[in-house]
Amino acid sequence: MKILTIIGTRPQFIKASALSKLIKKEKKIREIIVHTGQHYDYLMSNIFFKELKIPKPNYNLNIKSKYHGEMTGKMITGIEKILLKEKPKFTVVYGDTNSTLAGAIASKKLLIPVIHIEAGLRSYNQKMPEEINRILTDNCSEILFAPSRLAIQNLKKEGFNYNRMTQVGDIMYDVFLSMIRKIKKPNTTYDIITTIHRAENTDNKSRILNIIKNLNNLSEKFTILFPIHPRTKNFMMKFKIFKLLSKNIQISLPLSYVQSMSYLKYAKLLITDSGGMQKEALYANTQTLTIRDETEWPETENLFWNRLVKPNGDQIFKKTLEFINFKGRKSNPYGNGDTAKLILNKIKKLK
Ligand code: UD1
Repeated sequence: MKILTIIGTRPQFIKASALSKLIKKEKKIREIIVHTGQHYDYLMSNIFFKELKIPKPNYNLNIKSKYHGEMTGKMITGIEKILLKEKPKFTVVYGDTNSTLAGAIASKKLLIPVIHIEAGLRSYNQKMPEEINRILTDNCSEILFAPSRLAIQNLKKEGFNYNRMTQVGDIMYDVFLSMIRKIKKPNTTYDIITTIHRAENTDNKSRILNIIKNLNNLSEKFTILFPIHPRTKNFMMKFKIFKLLSKNIQISLPLSYVQSMSYLKYAKLLITDSGGMQKEALYANTQTLTIRDETEWPETENLFWNRLVKPNGDQIFKKTLEFINFKGRKSNPYGNGDTAKLILNKIKKLK
């Protein structure tokens, strides 16, 4: 059986590593990997292939930063050509990025069944590009692998056929467990790790300014590490925000998987707008403030590991003081770390 996997962004490299590793051991399944090129800097792409031992992509479309329509359109064109040539039995897509959507549309139009890993998540905020990508991708997909019970409920509410969906847990937990021996105490630890990259925060001057002001105030009391995503860097330059950033905050280039999990595990608090890191903080027993209006992972809130905070006034500062030493309930709503195995077993049974 030939499967074509489409990936393009940092979180997708991490997710795909778990399933690719298992597929490699299967004699009867061959995986063709297509990298769209959405993330292309060494620290946003290659480093993850090396660290997580992901097979080298068979194709790289090299479609670097563009606006949504152009980026997605170019990806569809490139993926279509590869699908016509390779004729896979299934296409696998992960998450909610433009690469996910492009893979799903190209494949659906060629009547090649799409398998969506991380299906059914919803923020119910259609201003997020990711929400649009999720809904459209789920609608193009024959097989929906959902990470949580809530994701299954969301799909049912939207009328998806129950036979198409399976609850399998979070594939990122597989990766976290498989790398646990490498996640060690760093030479320097920080009280707070912060990552901000969502368009809703970075592209909005008043939101990003508010976040930076709060971090500056927090840096008087706590040590802070701020690895900066290229998108955030661009907007901080555009809005001339770098010069406002306190010298007490340690900034850095984007981190590798092991580096970021190590700092996270030994921090007291994560301040983030990342989807993946909200769960990884739960796995690492680190309290989180999520700088967004909603989360696709409300289980992390219900277990008191995560709080939604709006970048308004001194909310981030106050909530940090309130929760920095708080620990949530020990429980994992996202499976047992065998998500990739469950997915592979199901794929093997597909006709
Ligand atoms: C994308 C996903 C987002 C995901 C994130 C993970 C979409 C719509 N968004 O957002 O859901 O959480 O990846 O990181 O698909 N850039 C570089 N080098 C790179 C990559 C990006 O400099 O290797 C810069 C470019 O200036 C680019 C900007 O970052 O314009 C944004 O990149 P893009 O791929 O459009 O989206 P992300 O913000 O990374």
